Amino acid sequence: ARTAAVIPAAGRGVRLGPGAPKALRVLGGMPMLIHAVHAMADSRAVSLVVVVAPPDGAPEVRSLLDAHALPERTDVVVVPGGESRQESVKLGLDALPPGYDIVLVHDAARPLVPVDTVDAVIEAVRDGAPAVVPALPLADTVKQVEPAAPGEPEPVVATPDRSLLRAVQTPQGFDRATLVRAHETVRGDVTDDASMVEQLGLTVVTVPGHEEAFKVTRPLDMVLAEAVLARRRH
Ligand code: CTP
Ligand code: MG
Repeated sequence: ARTAAVIPAAGRGVRLGPGAPKALRVLGGMPMLIHAVHAMADSRAVSLVVVVAPPDGAPEVRSLLDAHALPERTDVVVVPGGESRQESVKLGLDALPPGYDIVLVHDAARPLVPVDTVDAVIEAVRDGAPAVVPALPLADTVKQVEPAAPGEPEPVVATPDRSLLRAVQTPQGFDRATLVRAHETVRGDVTDDASMVEQLGLTVVTVPGHEEAFKVTRPLDMVLAEAVLARRRH
C-alpha cells in the first residue's frame, strides 16, 4: 500500500505571537513547513505529501517548496486550508488521489520529528492498526479542575494516575478509509485526528514518540527547536 502524508500548515500561530503564519517562520535558515515536509519525505515509504497552506498562502507555499529539492520519489501537492485544523485536514484528504491506502497526518508545527518515529507509525498501520499515534509519558503531574470565574482560583477535582497518561504527537497514521469515514461522520471540536477514530468506536494504538517531535507552540519552543538543530549540526 502506498503512503501519503497530509501536513496541516494553515494555522496563524496566535500563541507564538505576532509575525508570519507559524508554518512559514524560519528555523535554522529554513521555514518550519519545509523542515516538516522533509521530515515526511525522509521516510522511504512516503511518496506523496499534501501541504495544507494558509487560506491565502498557497502560491507562496508552492514557490517555497519549488525552491527546496525533495527526493525524486516524492510528489508534493499544495491546497488552501480552512478555519480550523480539522477543516484543514479534511481539505487535505479531499486532495488525495486514489491508490494511497495509508495516510499520515503531521503538524507543520512539529518540524523536527525523526524519521524513525515516522517509520514506526507507518509500520504499525501496515501491521493492521486502523489508527496509530506516537506517545510519550508525561513529566508533569496533571490535575483536573473545575471551571471558575475569571480571576477566581480553579478548584482541583481530580488527579488522574500519571502512569496511565500519554502526551501524543504527530505524525498520526491511519488506514485511509477509516480516516475519511471519521472526518465525514464525527462532528464537534477535536484537537487530533485519532480522537475522531476513537469516536467511531475503533481502537487507536500507540508507538513510542520522540522528544524532538515536540510541537512549536510558544516562543520558548522556537529557542528549543533552534538548539535541537544546532545539536544536529555538530
Ligand atoms: N492548522 C491548520 N489550519 C488551521 C489551524 C491549524 O492547518 N485552521 C495547523 C497548524 O498550521 C499546525 C497544526 O494545525 O501545523 C497544529 O495546530 P497549532 O499548533 O494549534 O497551530 P496554530 O493553530 O497555527 O497555532 P495557535 O493555535 O497558537 O494559533
Ligand atoms: Mg491552533
